[in-house]
Amino acid sequence: MSGDVADRATAGFRQRYDAEPAVRWAAPGRVNLIGEHTDYNDGFVLPFALPLRTVVAAAPGPDGRWTVWSELDDEPVEFGAAEADEPGRVDGWAAYVAGVVWALRAAGLDVPGARLAIASDVPVGSGLSSSAAIESAVLAALVDLGGLDLPTDRWPRLAQRAENDYVGAPTGIMDQSAVVRGREGHALFLDCRSEEVEQIPFDLDAAGLAVLVVDSRAPHRHADGEYAARRRSCERAAATLGVAALRDVPVADLDAALARLDDEETRRRVRHVVTENQRVLDTVALLRADRARDIGPLLTASHASMRDDFEITVPEVDTAVEAALAAGAHGARMTGGGFGGCVLALVDAADADAVADAVTAAYAERGFAAPGTLTVLPAAGVTRG
Ligand code: GLA
Repeated sequence: MSGDVADRATAGFRQRYDAEPAVRWAAPGRVNLIGEHTDYNDGFVLPFALPLRTVVAAAPGPDGRWTVWSELDDEPVEFGAAEADEPGRVDGWAAYVAGVVWALRAAGLDVPGARLAIASDVPVGSGLSSSAAIESAVLAALVDLGGLDLPTDRWPRLAQRAENDYVGAPTGIMDQSAVVRGREGHALFLDCRSEEVEQIPFDLDAAGLAVLVVDSRAPHRHADGEYAARRRSCERAAATLGVAALRDVPVADLDAALARLDDEETRRRVRHVVTENQRVLDTVALLRADRARDIGPLLTASHASMRDDFEITVPEVDTAVEAALAAGAHGARMTGGGFGGCVLALVDAADADAVADAVTAAYAERGFAAPGTLTVLPAAGVTRG
């Protein structure tokens, strides 16, 4: 798909509905700098919004129904309140849209019927949160169209509910928070329990650094079931330890906590979450001290923890991390839920192309399909546009 994504959404709207959109909203994808599988443990995360965006053009629709067209799919999807009120009734990509209508209605808001057209530069299925982007852009458009009284700090939870309760994916609050609350030039330090945020300056250009994102192109292997299994295992461990969530185990108490768990696998899961929370705090401390270059070892340690303790990496992402480090990256890790998706590497800006080439060469040597590579800067969250 070529052309500016916002223009594509407007053109799609005109073509599909033979009318002009009344509003247009854009929501970005995200990467997570560090803090993986900590969000649903009430812990800490540090994601940032990407320059890649999903754009929704919308206008009021007839009969209080919703019609959605996406450039991914020629056929529009149409549904009414009955389908929106029954989780799971609308499926495929349109479930994220119906889920938002459901979440807003469940919150007691009078959601206007609408026609929507969606265009996106966020790749689907790469672990860059194309789902949070579509949810957040649709939510913004419906709030705007309906003049709904809903402050933006409530948007992430509602978008998450769409995904948890309508689509049926038991994900945490990180993606929607990054997508809604991200700020250009900053990473979002989020306490997933209190939902307090701090914008942490992450000025890569000034530091002569770049974040290289490698799309591992690994087929997602049982990602949904494995994600849910990790979440259950963390919740069971918290119950055994008598805490509300693993966030309540400080790293200083880790050994004592591990001694109270009776199977080795659960001990590994807990060790990942507890040490990962600490790595987020350490990363934030370095960034606050303007030491972005020094966060590399924390990123790499996070990867090792996901590989060895949480066991959510696959050979393609491990290969990308190893090749990036061998080519001089300061640090590298898988980002997102795991079992494929993307790797990020912190590199000197001047080395970005060489590191990308080294990863591509390592893939060829292992016989993997070529990875995608791009460098990114922290961008703004949801915007009118
Ligand atoms: C997915 C989920 C997030 C988070 C990450 C892992 O992206 O949507 O809520 O749990 O995995 O950190």
